[in-house]
Amino acid sequence: MFLEDEGYDVRTGATLEEGYRLIDEFSPQVLLLDIRLPDGNGLDSLHDMKERYPEMTVMMLTAFGDAKTAVRAIKEGAFDYLTKPFELEELKITLEKWIKQHHLEKEVERYREEERRTKLVRMIGESEQMNELKAKISLIAESNDTTVLVRGETGTGKELVARSVHQQSKRAEGPFVAVNCASIPSDLIEIELFGREKNSVSDHSQPKVGLMEWADGGTLFLDEIGDLSLEIQVKLLRFLEDKKIKRIGSVHDIEMDVRVIAATNRSLEEMIEEKEFRSDLYYRLNVVPIKLTPLRNRDRDILMLTEHFLDEFCQQMRKETPILRADAKKRLLHYDWPGNVRELKNTIERIAILHQERELAAHHFDFLNPVEGNVEGSKPVDDVVFDELFSLEDHIESIEKKYIEKAIQESKWNITQAGKLLGISRYALQRRIEKYNIT
Ligand SMILES: Nc1ncnc2c1ncn2[C@@H]1O[C@H](COP(=O)(O)OP(=O)(O)OP(=O)(O)O)[C@@H](O)[C@H]1O
Ligand SMILES: [Mg+2]
Repeated sequence: MFLEDEGYDVRTGATLEEGYRLIDEFSPQVLLLDIRLPDGNGLDSLHDMKERYPEMTVMMLTAFGDAKTAVRAIKEGAFDYLTKPFELEELKITLEKWIKQHHLEKEVERYREEERRTKLVRMIGESEQMNELKAKISLIAESNDTTVLVRGETGTGKELVARSVHQQSKRAEGPFVAVNCASIPSDLIEIELFGREKNSVSDHSQPKVGLMEWADGGTLFLDEIGDLSLEIQVKLLRFLEDKKIKRIGSVHDIEMDVRVIAATNRSLEEMIEEKEFRSDLYYRLNVVPIKLTPLRNRDRDILMLTEHFLDEFCQQMRKETPILRADAKKRLLHYDWPGNVRELKNTIERIAILHQERELAAHHFDFLNPVEGNVEGSKPVDDVVFDELFSLEDHIESIEKKYIEKAIQESKWNITQAGKLLGISRYALQRRIEKYNIT
């Protein structure tokens, strides 16, 4: 056959029914569809075919001089049409045209992917905790497939950590696939993750490549891991142990080279007690734990991030970056930041949009209302929740900071006096003022 001589892999069917069967079996990239067929009209089936097989390109074969049919074919989604009788050379050219276009589309897709990938993430911050975090990320990036579990309050940068591990690792050229386990309905998540194969020829459902497969050679970021059902947890554990997946409806294992980074802000320990999370999966995931410190306990970062976002947003808006006055800084440091870096980023964007002034003062941030007693350290001990985010050290530090600030205020910045109020030496107080960046 001519097409086979040209290097195409071809199947031929004489009826619509046979056509459907062959499409299911063979999943062709291109279909040449005639109109008058023994068991129906090809043009009438075109719509249905495009719906069932959206990836497949259809070329219609139309009768000479039938412009109406040709127009309808294109409208219904055919890539092109060939008027019968046609020269084989014409067919060859049409197919080559398709290949060229198809190739271009793929190329564009690749470029987009590339662009996304090279958009390097930057982690801003120079607090002690941030420096430790950066060092830890570099170490993790060196190991090629260690599983990581990232925890932290909302907006602390869990996804950012996952991206920077990926980008610093040997997998950086591979894909980074982020899945939010909480946002995919539980009955769909299995197919989404593991993919699906056709069960039988009569099964008209589309085969689907799962996200695990998309992530092959790269990193899979499973956000809100606590939302996975127990059933999927078993499958995930199996994957982590032997690095193989089975598409749903298939009996074959596919080997997969993926590093999994999981994140959660739920208490997995509590979930384990409630039998909602498997402990074996927990230990498998938690090979390297990362815990992100809430922004309120990283004063240096609050100021650094503020300056960074101010610069960034003002540049975007082609405005001059305003100067942050000391009272504004103080206001930002006193605020609780329950939404952490995300909230800070949004706050600064809002300020950058609304204000034209050369200087930003405390009153510009009046909408940040610190609720008295809302600060972690001032909660009565009865209200404290010991979840996995609790850290005695962070807790004590935030209490310490509050008391120091109060003593300084009362003594009107007389450090010796404030030290006396607190019952510590002037030097001890000085050290803490520097540590907490109190201004
Ligand atoms: N250290 C940082 N430097 C720069 N940007 C940061 C930093 N930490 C967080 N961000 C920014 O803050 C926002 C929130 O971060 P991210 O989405 O990673 O948080 P998350 O912990 O995944 O939050 P959630 O639990 O709500 O999903 C993002 O825009 C991120 O780029
Ligand atoms: Mg997130």
